[in-house]
Amino acid sequence: MLELPIIQDTKSDSTIRNVNDLSHQPKLYVETYGCQMNVNDTEIVQGVMNDCGYAMTDKPEQADVILLNTCAIRDNAEKKIHERLNHLKYYKKRNKDLVVGILGCMAERLRETLLEKELVDLVVGPDEYRTVPELVSKAYSGERGIAVKLSRVETYDDILPFRTEGISAWVSIMRGCDKFCTYCVVPFTRGRERSRAFASIVDEAKSLFDQGFKEITLLGQNVNSYRDEQSGHNFAELLDACAKAVPDMRIRYTTSHPQDMSDQLIEAMAMHDNICKYIHLPVQSGSNRILSLMNRTHPVEHYYERIDMIKKLMPHCALSTDIITGFPTETEDDHEATMELMRRVRYDGAYMFKYSPRERTKAWKMGDDIPDEVKVRRLNEIINQQNAIAREINQTLIGSIEKILVEGPSKKNPMEWQGRTDSNKVTIFPQNEQSPYVIGDIISVKIEKASSATLFGSLI
Ligand code: 5AD
Ligand code: SF4
Repeated sequence: MLELPIIQDTKSDSTIRNVNDLSHQPKLYVETYGCQMNVNDTEIVQGVMNDCGYAMTDKPEQADVILLNTCAIRDNAEKKIHERLNHLKYYKKRNKDLVVGILGCMAERLRETLLEKELVDLVVGPDEYRTVPELVSKAYSGERGIAVKLSRVETYDDILPFRTEGISAWVSIMRGCDKFCTYCVVPFTRGRERSRAFASIVDEAKSLFDQGFKEITLLGQNVNSYRDEQSGHNFAELLDACAKAVPDMRIRYTTSHPQDMSDQLIEAMAMHDNICKYIHLPVQSGSNRILSLMNRTHPVEHYYERIDMIKKLMPHCALSTDIITGFPTETEDDHEATMELMRRVRYDGAYMFKYSPRERTKAWKMGDDIPDEVKVRRLNEIINQQNAIAREINQTLIGSIEKILVEGPSKKNPMEWQGRTDSNKVTIFPQNEQSPYVIGDIISVKIEKASSATLFGSLI
């Protein structure tokens, strides 16, 4: 049995840890599923564990502790975790002392039922990450633990996320969601909306710049409903303050709700060159009847009006969205309304999903009356149409010169490198010993070829 770090009180500064007594420094491996919020949450958990003496590893077979940071948004996201847990049994067979934990939205949703799985030692919801070291300690001595209370105040404002070197950093600015879209489990798994302190976010942006990061993405389930309790500052003001505080950094944000997409926010984006001209604005459906059943709180006309305002102030702003096909009672006419909306807005990208009923949500009680083959057919129709539109948009960029933030070797061919345009389009360009740039540089690339998802260019 591995000796364990003793943590008396994970919340106090006087935490006593005896990790120095260990025969080796314990290693933590975390696997992250789902949205970018989870990516940043993993960094928060790693920050907490690193503070308690843990080293990070990217090799699960070398880990003393394996944590899965999970997603519950659709059924197939959860199925993946169950499959992964089955696979982790082999690691536990090889190392009896291995501690396995489930974090995140699935932990919150399934709670005790996850502990019924023999190999799971701890289950920790999104607002209880401060308890992870303590629960891991207890797990070493055979005590299985659960911490799934949701909080109205927890923002992890004081915790330094454990970020590996890189050029892009995630910065959570608010947590939770109060919108209660009828299909969505997030308000149940992540709890009520709460925002981090304004000054601490601006300070974090400055500190990330000083550390060499070139880009930050402000994160939240609904960033545009951000409100600082003390000063009353809203998201537009936060974005403006960050843009001024780190003028040489690219600033992005995700995700936003059409209801809170204010003129002030669009104006703040238009005003600053370093705020990237890309907006992810989920619409979900183009049918007013379905939008109302989804409790999206706005009709399609409001969405068009917001898009018109964005295009008026930022004609080259890229747009993406989320769409759900096969929501309960969705007719062919409703589906055609979504197709029509997508043709009218002409998104640069879209995340498209089949409706997946989630327990506890209002839509769960509406049934799941659209047959799977109809959902799949509608999904394929919107995907095909969207791909054609994205290809057309990208091909209009051929011949233009784009400013690319260099990220490193391309995933498909390490002889080529990749980066992103301000509008968030992945761009591939040649790399060799003579190439006059390094990761993190912003370079000018002439676009020569374009597919629906990628631009290809040469250096100028
Ligand atoms: N089924 C399918 N898609 C869903 N989403 C949220 N809940 C569900 C569900 N029950 C999608 C929405 C949301 C995105 C993050 O996930 O489109 O914007
Ligand atoms: Fe879910 Fe709607 Fe909140 Fe987005 S706005 S997290 S879809 S409830």
